[in-house]
Amino acid sequence: MSQPFTTIIEPFRIHSVEPLRMTTAEERSFAIEHAGFNLFNLHAEDVLIDLLTDSGTGAMSRDQWAAIQHGDESYAGSPSWFRFEAAVKELFPFRHVIPTHQGRAAERILFSVVGGPGKLVPNNTHFDTTRANVEFSGAEARDLVIPEGHDAAKIHPFKGNMDLGALETLLQERAATIPVVFLTITNNSGGGQPVSLANIRGVSEICRRYGVPFFLDACRFAENAWFIHEREEGQSQRDISDIVREIASLADGMTMSAKKDPFGNIGGWLALNDDDLAEKCRSMLILTEGFPTYGGLAGRDLEALAQGLKEAVQPDYLRYRIRSTAYLGDALDAAGVPVVKPIGGHAVYVDAKALLSHIAPLQYPGQALAVALYKAGGIRSCEIGTVMFGRQPDGTETPAAMELVRLAIPRRTYTQSHIDYVIEVVTSVAKDAASLPGYRMVQEPQALRHFTAQFEPIA
Ligand code: F0G
Repeated sequence: MSQPFTTIIEPFRIHSVEPLRMTTAEERSFAIEHAGFNLFNLHAEDVLIDLLTDSGTGAMSRDQWAAIQHGDESYAGSPSWFRFEAAVKELFPFRHVIPTHQGRAAERILFSVVGGPGKLVPNNTHFDTTRANVEFSGAEARDLVIPEGHDAAKIHPFKGNMDLGALETLLQERAATIPVVFLTITNNSGGGQPVSLANIRGVSEICRRYGVPFFLDACRFAENAWFIHEREEGQSQRDISDIVREIASLADGMTMSAKKDPFGNIGGWLALNDDDLAEKCRSMLILTEGFPTYGGLAGRDLEALAQGLKEAVQPDYLRYRIRSTAYLGDALDAAGVPVVKPIGGHAVYVDAKALLSHIAPLQYPGQALAVALYKAGGIRSCEIGTVMFGRQPDGTETPAAMELVRLAIPRRTYTQSHIDYVIEVVTSVAKDAASLPGYRMVQEPQALRHFTAQFEPIA
């Protein structure tokens, strides 16, 4: 629908509401100290606007709730499974679809079969659970995003692209030790940046030439396809679902967290063409997730996802989704807050290295900003920097390439006035950024430390 008005409106009405609880500055100060200055440890009721993640936090539609009533909980061969499988194959026509309770279960199953010591897995940028599952198998995870993808301020329409030259060189040297090449669409850890169709075609062509399977980490496939539709030459007349099907046709398989674009509160899958590999993965699935027609999911979850997949590729929704994320990013940019540009699909990433340049990377500028946003306005965000990526497999700690704070936007959940409030709080914290302290980590778990580490401010 094209029209002469520019106000972004939510393309839905609200039908059921959840109350938000206001807190005082004293309450927030107490809560964050009690949480060891780690936002993952907060009670969600102490958060006003929760931008920790867009994963599993979206609002389901009327039609998804209605679909849930059709959930059939038969252990094997449930009609809900067949509806789910058909909806997945409609967009991603891989031969085998293996349902899992969420994305990282698909990753664990796949890498436990194809990973292992001596192996190497390239990706544009591994998401943290993907990297952790590759490394847990004993394999090495290597990021090969284009150089622009490491420069927060650099404008590039497809900053999530894989560096095709670097991929080719790596395959020349090591193809025999590379069980799979991954591409994350959109590139979450690199700023929610899209990958172009031309780049996906390029990765596919190189992988086929070297006989190495090519898999997608496709959590935000619909948002990525919308960027292709908007920014790539010759794509603006295509249906989003048609673009998605072409992307799938270029790959040999995918891992999926259905908690993102498909509007699931839970869910995921692994899909692939190779019969032998599928057989091995299904055996692992039965061992740890469940029977192959439900994986880790209830029949009602499968129904909600089958419907959600249809809604995820609707142009009115995607136009609103991407424009409303840009609305937040553009407003912060205009107010002088350094953000990753162009604005990504599911989140706005504040460049904490630029904003808190007085804090050294090993004193966690991103964590410092995330704590300050919570204390000031009850906003929960997520550090994506040295806290998340600084600990190396050999035990050393090195600064991450970027120090970002992600304001992830749950789908269909907050209105424009919530976002206006976020703009006001972030802008006000940014004005005082020079007064914020760095942090030291006082307790650190073995793996994925950002989830449970404890901090204290450096006086
Ligand atoms: N891959 C990407 C690109 C992701 O963003 C995530 C999750 C996963 C895989 C794992 O999926 O959570 O269902 O096991 N990202 C969430 C986030 C957690 O906040 O970005 P999962």
